[in-house]
Amino acid sequence: MISAVSVAYSRRAQEYIDLFGTMSAVHPSDRQLVATWAGGIDGQVIDAGCGPGQWTNFLAGLGLAARGVDQVPEFIERARHEYPHLRFDVGTLESLDCGTGTLGGVLSWYSLIHHEPDTIRVPLAEFHRALAPGGTLLVGFFEGPVVEQFDHAVIPAYRWPVEALNTQLQAVGFEVVESHVRKTAGQRPQAALVARRVDRR
Ligand SMILES: C[S@@+](CC[C@H](N)C(=O)[O-])C[C@H]1O[C@@H](n2cnc3c(N)ncnc32)[C@H](O)[C@@H]1O
Repeated sequence: MISAVSVAYSRRAQEYIDLFGTMSAVHPSDRQLVATWAGGIDGQVIDAGCGPGQWTNFLAGLGLAARGVDQVPEFIERARHEYPHLRFDVGTLESLDCGTGTLGGVLSWYSLIHHEPDTIRVPLAEFHRALAPGGTLLVGFFEGPVVEQFDHAVIPAYRWPVEALNTQLQAVGFEVVESHVRKTAGQRPQAALVARRVDRR
């Protein structure tokens, strides 16, 4: 079934590509944060909810075996066109096309912002399944004092307190090892968590 989020992004795909589809639209501190995380990755990486693929290409440029997945065909078509040397698949965050314990890293850069709070554990558990022991997930999201919905240009999204997302991550077997919050005047507060897959014995 095609989700409402997918339909909404399909409708505005070109607009999104024009505004956010290249690394020049990225805040320098986010670029640095992702590059630092990438430097500690051993193994393949999936850019989960890759949009037009700019982060996938960035990760590949750092020497990682990176591929992208997104539910929006227009984004995947664009990513394949722009970065023909890389692999991009239409797919969902809830069911990644990879074996259990096979990834060194998962990047989820603002791709969980539209998930209802009571469904967010489904993709988080899927990322956990896909990661090898010690593998890490980097999640970028909008930060706020309580979990609440807000009007996003494409379709409503959620802001999360760091602690609340931390709780969701722990519930599926992650340990949060880094937490970053950025508050820039005139912008929504933004945050990123690095979470490591914990091996339960
Ligand atoms: C705000 S955009 C971010 C795109 C990209 N990561 C970037 O930084 O430009 C959110 C993306 O997540 C994707 N997405 C959201 N939920 C998804 C799901 N359940 N399965 C696959 N993709 C999803 C959307 O299609 C959209 O491309």
